Amino acid sequence: MNAVIVGAYWGDEGKGKIVDLLAADSDWVVRFNGGDNAGHTIVANGKQVVLHILPAGVIQGKNVAIGPDVFFNPKSFFSDYESVVKAGFRISGKILIDERAHVIMPYHVALDSVSEASGKLGTTKRGIGPVAKDKASRTEDITVYDLASSSFKEKIKAVVAAKANGLVAAKVIEKAPDAEKYAAAVYAEYSPYAEKLKQYAGSSSYALNDALAKGQAILVEGAQATLLDVVHGTRPYVTSSNCTAGGAAANLGIDLRKFRVIAVAKAYPTRVGEGGFPTELGSYEDAKKEKKGEMLTAAEKKKAIDGDLKLLGKWIRQDGWEFGATTGRPRRTGYPDFVALKYSAMVNGVDEWAITKIDILSGKPFRAAVAYEKDGRKTTRFPFQLNGWKPVYGKKEYFWQQMSKSEEMAAVKNGYDALPDGMKDYIRDLVVATRTPVSMVSIGPQREMTVIRDVLKRTRECLR
Ligand code: IMP
Repeated sequence: MNAVIVGAYWGDEGKGKIVDLLAADSDWVVRFNGGDNAGHTIVANGKQVVLHILPAGVIQGKNVAIGPDVFFNPKSFFSDYESVVKAGFRISGKILIDERAHVIMPYHVALDSVSEASGKLGTTKRGIGPVAKDKASRTEDITVYDLASSSFKEKIKAVVAAKANGLVAAKVIEKAPDAEKYAAAVYAEYSPYAEKLKQYAGSSSYALNDALAKGQAILVEGAQATLLDVVHGTRPYVTSSNCTAGGAAANLGIDLRKFRVIAVAKAYPTRVGEGGFPTELGSYEDAKKEKKGEMLTAAEKKKAIDGDLKLLGKWIRQDGWEFGATTGRPRRTGYPDFVALKYSAMVNGVDEWAITKIDILSGKPFRAAVAYEKDGRKTTRFPFQLNGWKPVYGKKEYFWQQMSKSEEMAAVKNGYDALPDGMKDYIRDLVVATRTPVSMVSIGPQREMTVIRDVLKRTRECLR
């Protein structure tokens, strides 16, 4: 099967686990967007690996490709490579880095760190916005092709000279005449990477289309998610690349009709950084004060169950380990949002959902948004600008008890019917609200803690 995997909400949905699961039956695993602003956590063979740029299939010895719309940071590439090797996995497949991909240079990271605009948006400070600007400029950009060419040194010199005033303003260099010295330092830092990367540079479009022609299976993984898409997301609080499934086709030069679109919908949405979040529990200010591992007392849990939404948000954040894999920032947490998911299903053309981290909601009563309301107006459409829109919750409250180990194992073995009733109720309502079936339900971080049997069949029945 060929599939494109995207995130349904604002990222951190657990795409890494789903990609790792599906990679077993794939020949190629390909990353189509984003950069090292992403962090995909994979738990395999009792080890945890966090990858920022290398596609997750690498740990299963698959061929991997980094597409032309990926913002490529060579430092992160080699640090990912080392973490995979250190964790004891053997890299035995091909690695292909598209020569059209744009390279994140040290000045991109510096500009992202000092820019007031990046601060307002709450970016990851990985240089994503600045490198995307350079890509659009077509004159101040550096591609993997440039990096691998003999004129790399001259290219850096010319680009840095053109940027001299901006670099002075951002205090990267003191005065414009320092540009030449700075360019030489950047070259000295990047030329060892350039040497090592030459062997991987090439065309992913040709490689993937050749693979399709041979009948090989391709798994395409997206970074970030639908609501962070530069066009369809909650602008301006979005990233700088296309995160939706269509972006995979446009940027990799592949025919999307040959791929199933699987969107990973975490059982509850989370968001890092600024921007609207209609179903948010508590506030970003509260979340920012929290530290990883600050567990709730029994009395606090009781309060959360009795309706303290701030504590419920904290409980989900702590149980769900909702702290950034890249930046360590606490993630804002919210009630499930069927309005957002319906939009996501539409703009991606989702064939099926993979629901992740549903176990985190065990023992916690919750509701789901079915519409939004503003100034007496109600809508089931996801608005371009979210400010002022309040969620309208469905009448139902969902609840199930924590599953025991043996119940979990029974669900993994026997499939959909063995899931708790409250959980099935939630899944059914999600399917009906979004007119999209579910194919996988993840009940734990390990690859094997995934309920697959009969899930697609049963959830398709809900749509009849
Ligand atoms: P940038 O991609 O670093 O420019 O950040 C833009 C917005 O996207 C910020 O709100 C980030 O928090 C968010 N963002 C970027 N990458 C991720 C990710 O992998 N998961 C969740 N949010 C992300």
